[in-house]
Amino acid sequence: MDKRTSVTDLKAMKKRGEKIAMLTAYDYPSARLVEEAGVPIILVGDSLGMVVLGYDSTVPVTMDEMLHHVKAVVRATKRAHVVADMPFMSYQASPADALRNAGRLLKEGGAQSVKLEGGARVAETVRMMVEAGIPVMGHVGLTPQSVNQFGGYKVQGKTPAAAVRLLSDAMALQEAGAYAIVLETIPAQVAETITGKLSIPTIGIGAGPGCDGQVQVFHDLLGLFTDFTPRHARRYAEVGETIINAVRNYAFDVQEGRFPTDKESFIMSETVFSDVTHLA
Ligand code: KIV
Repeated sequence: MDKRTSVTDLKAMKKRGEKIAMLTAYDYPSARLVEEAGVPIILVGDSLGMVVLGYDSTVPVTMDEMLHHVKAVVRATKRAHVVADMPFMSYQASPADALRNAGRLLKEGGAQSVKLEGGARVAETVRMMVEAGIPVMGHVGLTPQSVNQFGGYKVQGKTPAAAVRLLSDAMALQEAGAYAIVLETIPAQVAETITGKLSIPTIGIGAGPGCDGQVQVFHDLLGLFTDFTPRHARRYAEVGETIINAVRNYAFDVQEGRFPTDKESFIMSETVFSDVTHLA
């Protein structure tokens, strides 16, 4: 029987010095492919707001939208650990909201854990969730739900004071019971220092090679989202271009009468068809 990667497996990977590859997926086919490629942890990120739903930030994403996508990813996978992002305002207003919404992502969505943004200010909420049996991944640095407060997607933790604040945020999350922390868009040296001080894994995105693992957005890796490419992303394929060429060829073949041929059609035997023409 298949067993999903657990939070204890992920902590053990850090202990063994084994790097953790995490990738986002948002639907059934992409999650099938990501699991097939051997990725042990899939994030259903609220980045889906931008790369799948066409919003200009993650702020408008709702619980219902997250649940819809989380369910599809869970249906597609058997071995990967599925982390569901908590969307903006699903946990900030009160710990009761946070518990109820995280519970929905596990009970209705089928995710194995949730991720939320923020450091010390959400530590008490994280503690309550962990005590209720909900594994929580933290997320500090450039937290995209606060884009309006940051005034854009800017590198965080650039001054000594800001770097120290990041470290104490990460410590507060670990102390509250988080099982891992995403470090987003912070200087590589700061991420490496935080990683060395924590016993739980750090997963970096735009945080250099010194983290315990890395996370990327599926569409950035594969060239499927071309509105912009973040500096931290590496394109491993140009799937978008491949799709455009394939669709262009299909449309051309239809226009030219070259699709479909007999091979793609269902042909009646001549005898039966002669009865049809007789009756018609
Ligand atoms: O929503 C997301 O995809 C994320 C990653 C960028 C860490 O939070």
